[in-house]
Amino acid sequence: MVKVVRLRRGAEKQVLNGLLTIYSKWIEDDGGAEPGEDIILVDSRRKTIGIGFYEGIGAVGVRLLKIGAEEDVSDIIRRNILYAYRKREFYPFDSKRIVNADADHLPGLIIDLYKDTAVIQSSSIGMDNRLDLIAMILRRSGIANYVYVRNDQRSRMEIGLERWRGWMVKGDETVLTIREGKAIFKVDIEEGQKTGFYLDQRINRLEAGLYTSNKKVLDLYSYTGGFGIQALVNNAKKTVFVEETPRSIELLYENLKINDVLEKSEVYEGRVEKFLDESGGKFDVIISDPPALVQNRASLDKGVNKYRKVLKDIVKHISQGILFVSSCSYFITPEILKREIIDKILEENRRRYLYLGMVRGAAPDHMHRSIDKELRYLKGYFLYIH
Ligand SMILES: C[S@@+](CC[C@H](N)C(=O)[O-])C[C@H]1O[C@@H](n2cnc3c(N)ncnc32)[C@H](O)[C@@H]1O
Repeated sequence: MVKVVRLRRGAEKQVLNGLLTIYSKWIEDDGGAEPGEDIILVDSRRKTIGIGFYEGIGAVGVRLLKIGAEEDVSDIIRRNILYAYRKREFYPFDSKRIVNADADHLPGLIIDLYKDTAVIQSSSIGMDNRLDLIAMILRRSGIANYVYVRNDQRSRMEIGLERWRGWMVKGDETVLTIREGKAIFKVDIEEGQKTGFYLDQRINRLEAGLYTSNKKVLDLYSYTGGFGIQALVNNAKKTVFVEETPRSIELLYENLKINDVLEKSEVYEGRVEKFLDESGGKFDVIISDPPALVQNRASLDKGVNKYRKVLKDIVKHISQGILFVSSCSYFITPEILKREIIDKILEENRRRYLYLGMVRGAAPDHMHRSIDKELRYLKGYFLYIH
């Protein structure tokens, strides 16, 4: 018998707005459901709202998969994955995000596809319990031949979920080669960051490549070389990469070799702060794509100061040219990045600058609905400094 979880009075408004992640504080009665179990969600008057999983760990109470009448959970997951994949057929790359959590009515689930290998990342006990089903859907539908799970993100520990990674459907290699425009990249799905590659910055990397012909480029926080290699394959004169993690640096070198741009490159193996301090070099194009420097609302002011400090040091290295300033911290809104970080530092340092178009965000495969605020973590601005 499927357990019934009842909401507090008034909480159904959140669901009617389209929210699929239901917080524990909105739940009146969990009906005895165990974490990961299928449930029927009802409102305070016991009217059925929808179907999903009981989570019951951390702040999340329920992940809803479908609003409306009863249906088998496995059928809903199958239909939503196939539809999520179909929605991205317009996006012309051999690797892409094919499931983006709540936006695809699969809250707690991310799936990135690298050619014929799918990499799953779950932050939900309900999704964890259905990894076999998800792998089977991906394989039987022909979306992927191989399926890897990257459930090793630190945030899983905070909600009491086990951290692990490994094959569900075994492939030969955990280092894959993908194409992005004129460049190719090795992607380490086992030890790389995220699911192996920053698919979210793709269109911004391709845009940066439009501005780099014959230019001297600085790629700060370069990871495996995404921005700087786009610059080089688009005829940049030279790129200096700055990255501190050994595995990323190894792959960066491999990517430089396979794109045949090693001799136009210089790699600084260390911290961006130290490089900016020590180097006297000037660049025509600078990219700054740091990790999330703000992890929670309480540390917003401190984090804003970190972004300001780095930007202040960056602008010393550009006399005239293009600057891309990005932030993937959810708590740094596009307005905070623009007004409190970029405008403040450039004005204080008496630099003349113009915004090139509007705010940029994550690539189109990272679909979101208006209410999916947390899926809109990435923002960045291209600037002309003169
Ligand atoms: C958001 S990722 C960059 C992604 C990259 N731009 C791309 O398109 O693939 C940030 C990178 O900065 C590196 N990193 C973090 N803090 C750093 C620091 N202080 N100095 C140098 N690298 C750092 C991380 O190891 C990570 O590879």
